[in-house]
Amino acid sequence: MPARLLVTGGAGFIGANFVHHWLARHPDDRVVVVDALTYAGNLGSLEGVRTHPGFRFVHADIREQQTIEGLLADERLDTVVHFAAESHVDRSIAGPDPFIDVNIGGTHSLLKAVRAVWLEGTGEGAECRFHHVSTDEVYGSLGPDDPPFTETTPFAPNSPYAASKAGADHLVRAYHHTYGLPTSVSNCSNNYGPYHFPEKLIPLCIVNLLLGRELPVYGDGLQVRDWLHVEDHCRGIESILDRGRSGATYNIGGNCERSNLEVVQAICHHVDHLFAGRESLGQRFPDCPAATGEPCADRITMVRDRPGHDRRYAIDAALISAELGYEPGVEFDAGLSATIGWYLEHEAWWRAVMDDSYRSWIDGWYEK
Ligand code: NAD
Ligand code: TYD
Repeated sequence: MPARLLVTGGAGFIGANFVHHWLARHPDDRVVVVDALTYAGNLGSLEGVRTHPGFRFVHADIREQQTIEGLLADERLDTVVHFAAESHVDRSIAGPDPFIDVNIGGTHSLLKAVRAVWLEGTGEGAECRFHHVSTDEVYGSLGPDDPPFTETTPFAPNSPYAASKAGADHLVRAYHHTYGLPTSVSNCSNNYGPYHFPEKLIPLCIVNLLLGRELPVYGDGLQVRDWLHVEDHCRGIESILDRGRSGATYNIGGNCERSNLEVVQAICHHVDHLFAGRESLGQRFPDCPAATGEPCADRITMVRDRPGHDRRYAIDAALISAELGYEPGVEFDAGLSATIGWYLEHEAWWRAVMDDSYRSWIDGWYEK
């Protein structure tokens, strides 16, 4: 029987990629997106599925419990994939309140709605699934020789963002344990790919280069992240929805640890190479250093470090591999090159999201 999904935060980076992925692979399913369209939400990211017969967009906040209950019941939704969140660590440092309100309060509101409809309403809850999309940042920071995070690594969140996601993870666990809600959780490493808002490291560096701006690298640039292409993340969530155990948590990672400096240098290398091979790029982006043959890496600028900056994240993804047969498929250099290609082909998308509120965030944060 076709599944009927509620996707929260489906107009954001990973949510939009997930909706594209899901409808391409499950064209007969129903996918209802609920998104509050904050600064990070963009209907342009869903343009490709707008006319799909199974797709519906609802402009609402996950904290509107009555609205969510109405949707779950009226649409007979049997699966929730919960992406909606405030997601940027730097913004959580500048102002933690919305992170607590949305990531903890919003997740709790959703859980209450799902419990009311699935467990106390139709009584068909056993056939349903609430999947919560979380982050490796709940586990804290690793030293250079520490083993990667497993699903049993104790939580030690360091930023308000990470703490708010950890709080949400605990609530999902509690609703499973106490009320028998069928749940699953995935804790994933850093994603990159299309539709990524240009406040995060990789898209920020790509658009900054195209516009001839500096590439800000925090501290010594030797912090390490484990990078995963967003398409692989979507496949990982799909495998959990298909075959994952109710009540389980699965780590998803890319087996791809890179320092921030390595990542920024790789972006510079790809852009140098692309511009050298295509004269038209220099005409479209005359302010990009590569347009005049200047090495992009000359624009790397070391700036003040992020307060409380986690040094290293790394994922041990043995559980999802052994239980569900899931492995990431996109190799980092190929994925990064394709991502840069996507930004070159979708200039209208990124220019549209870089509005006055974007500029005031960027100018305020990097001037501090
Ligand atoms: P994003 O910031 O790009 O998108 C978040 C989306 O949620 C936006 O469309 C926004 O409008 C929506 N939203 C925010 N508050 C809302 C509310 N109150 N009600 C309804 N919608 C709301 O985030 P992302 O990078 O796509 O991350 C999606 C999820 O994945 C988040 O839960 C995040 O914690 C998690 N995650 C992200 C990464 C990553 O590398 N980006 C890694 C692991 C986990
Ligand atoms: P980010 O993309 O914000 O993801 P997260 O904080 O969730 O890992 O940052 C990735 C890494 O890049 C992180 O170590 C912080 C660093 N960084 C910079 O060095 N410069 C920047 O301008 C940004 C946004 C991040």
